[in-house]
Amino acid sequence: MLDRYKRYIHYLRISVTDRCNLRCTYCMPEEGIQLMSHQDILTFDEITDVVKVAVSLGVDKFRITGGEPLVRKDIVTLIARISAVEGVKDLSMTTNGIFLEELAQPLKDAGLHRVNISLDTLDPVKFQKITRGGDLNRVLCGIEAAQIAGLDPVKINCVVLKSSMEEDAMAVKEFGRKNNLQVRFIHQMNLETGEFSIVEGGNGGNCHQCNRLRLTANGMVMPCLFDEQQFSVRAMGAEKALLAALDCKPLNGCLNGKGSFYNIGG
Ligand code: 5AD
Ligand code: SF4
Repeated sequence: MLDRYKRYIHYLRISVTDRCNLRCTYCMPEEGIQLMSHQDILTFDEITDVVKVAVSLGVDKFRITGGEPLVRKDIVTLIARISAVEGVKDLSMTTNGIFLEELAQPLKDAGLHRVNISLDTLDPVKFQKITRGGDLNRVLCGIEAAQIAGLDPVKINCVVLKSSMEEDAMAVKEFGRKNNLQVRFIHQMNLETGEFSIVEGGNGGNCHQCNRLRLTANGMVMPCLFDEQQFSVRAMGAEKALLAALDCKPLNGCLNGKGSFYNIGG
């Protein structure tokens, strides 16, 4: 699909839940969030239908996000259903890694190709602070399990405050070098002020090269992380919703007062 600015759009990021088992300070308030009601969250049938329609429109690259996608019940089954759709060439997931030790191999067997795992620090105490209670060791075991399972490549998303030269970021970079992991540094963003920046070592944040649309867990297709417009696949049908989002995809991202990372998937 080409948008108004002749960008080739062939990538759909699918949020499968707004729930998360962590509470990262830059993502969620401590008390958690107003959760979507269960009826509003798309079923596996509905998500698979959106994937089929997206493929028919020329999308071949899919990323599963959340919230934390691995807290969605039967996520392995959903991955199997999506990967079975003919025309899905690249299927990846962004996860915090907490449940990956158990799930990496089943996910690989279900047809997941690769994962991005969030890791901002290698200091267990700082990790606990940033995530408000997360266990760093589980993430490290998850990373190893992903590599053993053959999810390839395993990439690391490292959120930095100002630069990749910060102490924690440097440690993550070194950990990546030693363990054959691609590390991408993401500058902490603020959706409400529209503060965002390019990802060092990734493609996000570079509006001119943007190739993606987003689907929220409750079935809204969004043209851009930094845009308030959204189109309901339930109300409009998947094809119309995808095409409407394509049609209004902005040249550059700007203000988004409604969204946050936990509901549109980072
Ligand atoms: N700024 C930058 N990245 C963020 N993420 C979550 N909130 C923010 C934020 N405010 C990232 C996580 C993870 C992905 C899902 O989104 O670190 O890598
Ligand atoms: Fe959960 Fe990811 Fe948000 Fe952290 S950044 S609270 S792991 S969704």
